Amino acid sequence: MSHAEDLGGTRRDFLYYATAGAGAVAGGAAVWTLVDQMNPSADVQALSSIFVDVSGVETGTQLTVKWRGKPVFIRRRTQEEIDAARAVPLTDLVDPKAENHNLPADAPATDENRALDETGEWLVMIGVCTHLGCVPLGNGAGEFGGWFCPCHGSHYDTSGRIRKGPAPRNLDIPVAAFTDATTIKLG
Ligand code: FES
Repeated sequence: MSHAEDLGGTRRDFLYYATAGAGAVAGGAAVWTLVDQMNPSADVQALSSIFVDVSGVETGTQLTVKWRGKPVFIRRRTQEEIDAARAVPLTDLVDPKAENHNLPADAPATDENRALDETGEWLVMIGVCTHLGCVPLGNGAGEFGGWFCPCHGSHYDTSGRIRKGPAPRNLDIPVAAFTDATTIKLG
């Protein structure tokens, strides 16, 4: 092998690793978490609770974070999405329960019972289809303008409630709360 070829080989290796590194960075670019270091059991807390900075989430977009091994959708809804969700009669719903872990198990599936805040701007849900566990597509996907699971065709509305397809339940709402104007605590 000539000296030039040898250099070329080295360069290809370098490019390979550089590309792999860039991919890893892009893949891990979820907004991540701060654990309260003042808490004596911060290491234990870290397993169960995370804090998500939502200051960069624009209206009409969704942030997905990983929590307890699952994706969590944090959507900042448009007024149209909120209005659409709140106009749905409960009698149209497949699953009449809010499926909101912040509320009693029998709380009805009104949009008010699913949104994180009173205005309904923020909707936080476990991003796992209640049929067989695929991750639904968001950003207005599906026939009801919310989320769509392409695995077997489940359509969720702008409140994450199942409206059509095989999924039996609304997308789950995890224990969540605002801790300040721009931080949501999960768990
Ligand atoms: Fe979503 Fe089957 S897993 S429709």
